[in-house]
Amino acid sequence: MNKDIKAIMISEEEIGAAVSRVAAEIDRDYGNVEGRVLLLAILKGSVVFMGDLMKKITLPVEIDFMKVSSYGADTKSSGNINIILDLARKDIDSCNIIIVEDIIDSGKTLSYLVEYLRHKGAKSVRTCTLLDKPSRREVDFTPDYVGLEVEDEFVVGYGLDYDEQYRALPYIGILRPEVYGESEGNA
Ligand code: IMP
Ligand code: MG
Repeated sequence: MNKDIKAIMISEEEIGAAVSRVAAEIDRDYGNVEGRVLLLAILKGSVVFMGDLMKKITLPVEIDFMKVSSYGADTKSSGNINIILDLARKDIDSCNIIIVEDIIDSGKTLSYLVEYLRHKGAKSVRTCTLLDKPSRREVDFTPDYVGLEVEDEFVVGYGLDYDEQYRALPYIGILRPEVYGESEGNA
């Protein structure tokens, strides 16, 4: 195991089972919708989840990407959402968008994006997250599809990073607090 990881929180097998369950829920819910089904992954944290999820969904889906920033090189959300890469499609009014996210913490990123995409004229917008930390919510937000609920620990792996590291780990691990120097001056 990676030396900076305190413990494995979710194994590859558990992640696989959660992804399969979410894919089956999406297959069930979108079988009869009118229009396109667009999986919209939020870069970069959700790319690993997206890759596995899209293979397990049997319905025809399209994929696209947006990039937003709310975190710096630390473990706290700034709450300011900046769109760094926008969704550039002319046919958004025919798209049933499922936003694919790695983890929900305060809820600010996804609640902002849902409103943003509805305002842009999407046919429908739902949200899908691999991990949810409901105890951390700062805004009222409930995702439509959740892989697994997790405790309030800073986790990395399977796409999730700390300062751009650890994304390629195949499991979700708890980072040793000394790696991110948990201290007052580091907000
Ligand atoms: P929110 O806007 O506070 O819900 O922030 C969600 C974003 O924060 C996610 O897309 C992640 O990029 C990041 N994030 C939140 N918790 C963690 C974590 O435990 N590990 C890595 N990234 C996290
Ligand atoms: Mg993210």
